[in-house]
Amino acid sequence: MNFMELATTRYSVRAFDNRAIEADKLQKILEAGRIAPTAKNNQPQHIYVVKSAAGLAKMQAVTRCHYGAPVVLIVAYDKNLEWQNPLENGVVSGQQDASIIATHMMLQATELGIGSVWVDMFSPTEVKKVFELPENIVPVLLMPLGYAAKDAAPSPFHTQKKPLSETVTEI
Ligand SMILES: Cc1cc2nc3c(=O)[nH]c(=O)nc-3n(C[C@H](O)[C@H](O)[C@H](O)COP(=O)(O)O)c2cc1C
Repeated sequence: MNFMELATTRYSVRAFDNRAIEADKLQKILEAGRIAPTAKNNQPQHIYVVKSAAGLAKMQAVTRCHYGAPVVLIVAYDKNLEWQNPLENGVVSGQQDASIIATHMMLQATELGIGSVWVDMFSPTEVKKVFELPENIVPVLLMPLGYAAKDAAPSPFHTQKKPLSETVTEI
């Protein structure tokens, strides 16, 4: 698959079958995140892999968007490690760093035939509490991962993308 094939093959998977993700595939997905760029290479990310029965039960309590996935990643960053823009007070990189890492992981998952969905429908405060994460950690997104169920299909949103003429301006 070339890059555009990979990018168009990915869609938000919201129904998973009960097949486990092989350990080497999960490792590859995490590795794809590890090599992503981060501001000043600070690498403030921390990825929590939730796959135990107890962890998945907690996940079901914190989001309705777990979709029964066998693995859910909590993609987070350490607010003590994120880059601070010296040119503008308060402009920091943690959310961007985590998002790039998550995107790398989603696309690697797609190449391996593993479905994913980006989930923001959760309370970061509650996730920190339920999973007992350190004070300095900021959860950015959850990422359910697994093999798509037989009846999984892209939502209509998947193909409803604005034309470039609406989102790109030469200035
Ligand atoms: C920042 C962000 C937050 C999202 N949050 C959720 C979510 O909480 N639950 C969900 O089911 N999908 C969520 N999505 C998936 C989007 O709804 C989806 O990417 C969009 O509708 C386009 O569909 P596609 O991913 O199939 O191309 C999120 C995506 C992004 C990028």
